[in-house]
Amino acid sequence: EDVPVLIIGAGPAGLVLGNLLLAAGVDCAILEQRGRAHVEQRARAGFLAANTVRVLAENGLDAGLSARGKEHDTCAFRYPGGQFELCYRKLGRAEVHTVYPQQHLVADLVAEFLARGGDLRFDTEVTAVTGLDGDRPEVATRDAGGVTRRWTSRYVAGCDGRHGASRRALPPGAVRRHRRDHDVSWLALLVQAPPSMEAVGYAVHERGFAGHMARTAEVTRYYLQCPRGTDPMSWSEDRIWAELHQRMQAETFGPLREGPVLERAVVQMESDVLSPIQFGSLFLAGDAAGLISPSAAKGANLAVMEAEILARALVLAVHTGDSAALARYSADCLPRVWRAQEFSHWMINLLHGPTGTGEEADFLRGLQLARLESLRSSRSHQDHFAENYVGI
Ligand code: APR
Repeated sequence: EDVPVLIIGAGPAGLVLGNLLLAAGVDCAILEQRGRAHVEQRARAGFLAANTVRVLAENGLDAGLSARGKEHDTCAFRYPGGQFELCYRKLGRAEVHTVYPQQHLVADLVAEFLARGGDLRFDTEVTAVTGLDGDRPEVATRDAGGVTRRWTSRYVAGCDGRHGASRRALPPGAVRRHRRDHDVSWLALLVQAPPSMEAVGYAVHERGFAGHMARTAEVTRYYLQCPRGTDPMSWSEDRIWAELHQRMQAETFGPLREGPVLERAVVQMESDVLSPIQFGSLFLAGDAAGLISPSAAKGANLAVMEAEILARALVLAVHTGDSAALARYSADCLPRVWRAQEFSHWMINLLHGPTGTGEEADFLRGLQLARLESLRSSRSHQDHFAENYVGI
C-alpha cells in the first residue's frame, strides 16, 4: 500500500493531523494498534486550551465540543494559609479552558476522519519503521489476525506515544532526549460523583498534594500524591476519601461528594523533550515527541499544536514540493514546548512539597508557601500564571 503520508497512532495528535490533511486534499492513512472501542473509551485529559479549540473550530472538528464542552475559568488553591481562587478569564490574556473529556474528542475525530473518507486501520500494530533516511520509508504492520503487511509512503508521522514504534525507529544519536523524573507520583482516580466544587481544586498539604477536576455532571477526577511504586489497588475507598477530605480541608471548606471509584492508576510525573522532533522522513507529534507531566494539563494541547504545524508543513510539501516548512518543524514547535515544560515544572514545585523532614525539607516548604503567597497576592504574578496556564 502506498500513500503520501502514513500516520502512526490514533490519539489526539494523529487524528487531528489526519483530519487536517484530508481537509487539504492530502491522502493519508492512520494505523492504530488498539481497537476502536478501546481508543474511544480511554479516559485521559479533558482541559482544552483556547488554541486547541481554535484549531478544532477552524477545521470543522468542534461539533461535539461546542455542544457538550463546558467553559472553565477558575482554579482554587487550598494550603495551610487558607484558600484563594484565581479566575483566569479576568487575568492575563483572558482565556478560558473548555472541559471536554478526551475520549469524546477522540470519538468525534474518528467519526469525522471516516466521514471524510479517511483510511483508518484499527487493530493494526506498527512493528517496524525503516528507510527513514531516504524518501520511501517503509512501515510494517501486523493486524489482530496476525496478518502482516508493508506500507510505503513519502512521509511518516509518528503520533504513537512514548512507547510507540516511531521512537524505537530513531537511530542512536539522531535526536537528543532531555528528561526529568520529578520523583512525584499521583494516584489518579475517576469517581462516579458530581464535582465537589466549581473550580479546579489544588490542595497543598503536609500529607501530600490532592487535586480535584470536574469532568462531567456524573464523573469527577481526583488526584492524590502517593509514594513512588504504590500499587493502585492497595488504597481502599475509605482511605482514599479520608485522605481527600483531610488534604482538601473538607472540614473547613465543605464536604466532597463521594461516589464509587471507577478507575484508578498511578502516574509518575515524568517529562521529556526530544530535540529535534524529526529525522529524515519521520516527524513526531504528541507524546512521541515529548512527554509532559500532567500537572498543568498540557499534553493533549501540545499534541494539537504540533499536529496543526505539521499538517501545514506536510500540505505544502505534498502539494508543491516545497519542504522548507517541514525542515523548520522542530524549530517552530520546540520553543513552545519548552515554555509549556517550564510552566509545568514550576507547577510541580508549587503543588508538591518536599517529602521527608529536616532542615532542607523545611527550607523547601518555606519556598513553596512563599510561592503560593505570591500567587495569592500579586496581580502581576496572577497574570503571568493565567497566560501560561491556559496558553500554549
Ligand atoms: N502501532 C500503532 N499504534 C500505536 C503503536 C504502534 N506500535 N504504539 C502506540 N500506538 C497508538 C496507541 O494505541 C494510541 O492510540 O498510538 C496512540 C497514541 O495516542 P496517545 O497516547 O493518545 O498520544 P497522543 O496522540 O500523542 O496524545 C497526546 O493526550 O491524553 C493526552 O496526556 C496525553 O499527552 C497525551 C496527549
